[in-house]
Amino acid sequence: MDVKDKVVVVTGGADGIGAALCRRFAKAGARHVAVVDRNADGATAVAAEIGGTAYVVDVSDAEAVANLVAAVEADQGRIDLFFSNAGIGDGDPDPQSATSSPDWVWQRAWGVNVMAHVYAARAVLPGMVARGEGYLVNTVSAAGLLSQIGGAVYSTTKHAAVGFAESLAITHGDHGIKVSILCPQGVDTAMLRQGSPGAPQNLDGVMTTDEVAECVIAGLAEEKFLILPHPVVLTYMQRKTADYDRWITGMRRLRNKVSGQKSL
Ligand SMILES: NC(=O)c1ccc[n+]([C@@H]2O[C@H](COP(=O)([O-])OP(=O)(O)OC[C@H]3O[C@@H](n4cnc5c(N)ncnc54)[C@H](O)[C@@H]3O)[C@@H](O)[C@H]2O)c1
Repeated sequence: MDVKDKVVVVTGGADGIGAALCRRFAKAGARHVAVVDRNADGATAVAAEIGGTAYVVDVSDAEAVANLVAAVEADQGRIDLFFSNAGIGDGDPDPQSATSSPDWVWQRAWGVNVMAHVYAARAVLPGMVARGEGYLVNTVSAAGLLSQIGGAVYSTTKHAAVGFAESLAITHGDHGIKVSILCPQGVDTAMLRQGSPGAPQNLDGVMTTDEVAECVIAGLAEEKFLILPHPVVLTYMQRKTADYDRWITGMRRLRNKVSGQKSL
């Protein structure tokens, strides 16, 4: 997809990767960019900067997401690209225990990192399928393909997000719907800065949000399922599937190397 003249929705658009995506899509000539976030001030500022519209929405609220889609469709006639990017990163409170996050943290992450993608697709697909075209991109993480040391909640919900995106692609490909997942490692955002600089996801280099947005433009042009700003992630995936036990041993070794550090 070339986003020129397209109607685009970006969630988590107030900050970080989402804000860079909004700016890059506007620069690429998108017809309209809807900047969606629960952070009203941030969304309003980004929308004002690019001539888009700010929508204050909690993406884990199904009704709010349905209302968002209806409002953009009423205003713009259609949605060509829905970029479900908002996410939250919870680290294990006790790095020695993968079960240490309380249930409410699991539930909250499930709502934002998984169900938000479901709510968006449920709301936007009818219009896209009726037109026989549309593009859904879900920001996941390399943690959804590999794992996040010290982040059981994050890893689990991001794995689930990969599973849902696969289902979308398999079920709706024949309806003309394109699906991609964006799976970076470390990106210099507020989420990353809340963790330790030596955290494992930073070891292959921390990208800027503008660099990630550039990879997205290239990935959309190719319309491939996997958009990997850090290409080494593909090598890690191949090692994981080639010998799962050896990969787990390697991850345990890496965990021991970085232990004592907050990993998100
Ligand atoms: N930064 C990284 O290193 C990194 C790496 C891999 C994947 N990711 C993923 O990239 C995406 C964007 O993260 P980021 O690094 O830009 O983080 P960020 O914290 O800078 O931005 C996230 C944005 O999402 C918004 N948001 C969070 N929960 C929301 C909700 N319930 N409803 C509406 N908006 C909500 C926040 O207000 C914020 O503006 C996330 O899905 C994250 O998991 C980030």
